[in-house]
Amino acid sequence: MISKEMEMALNEQIELEGYASFLYLSMASWCDKEGLEGCARFMHRQSEEEKEHMLKIFHYLSEVDGFALTPAIAQPPHEFESVQSMFEQVYEHEQKVTNSIHGLVKKSYDNNDLTTWNFLQWYVEEQREEEALMRSILDKIKLIGGGPQSLYYIDKEVDKINAQAAKAEGEEAA
Ligand code: FEO
Repeated sequence: MISKEMEMALNEQIELEGYASFLYLSMASWCDKEGLEGCARFMHRQSEEEKEHMLKIFHYLSEVDGFALTPAIAQPPHEFESVQSMFEQVYEHEQKVTNSIHGLVKKSYDNNDLTTWNFLQWYVEEQREEEALMRSILDKIKLIGGGPQSLYYIDKEVDKINAQAAKAEGEEAA
């Protein structure tokens, strides 16, 4: 049975993952409005992924006799200054999630809750991959620069990255 302290901390993580899902959904909508179809597809997939991250904790809490709470999600921003600024916000949010996961890992270890510690290892790896992915997108955006056709090329590049990520996920699930 999980401790109340760990249960509460995991419920806070549920909220953070839920917020990420809503934030990326809002970004997908903004991308659609701006005609950035590739970026919209990317953000929709990321939003779904975050929902899965949230639900994984839900199921885990039930398995260990805890109580998962459906969180109130704060309304995310709807407007973004530019595609670069949007991805910078994604990267910042992912860093925040990583710090939170690392805090949970430490807490589980300090509480001698090795079952939760083991469960969290999947998230540690996932965060490493997500941060690397967002950094690579930001690098591409900077490389393409701000010329007249830049949005077109950024959108194409992000769509390519999205297709690769979707393929990798499909292979993982198979
Ligand atoms: Fe589930 Fe990308 O944090």
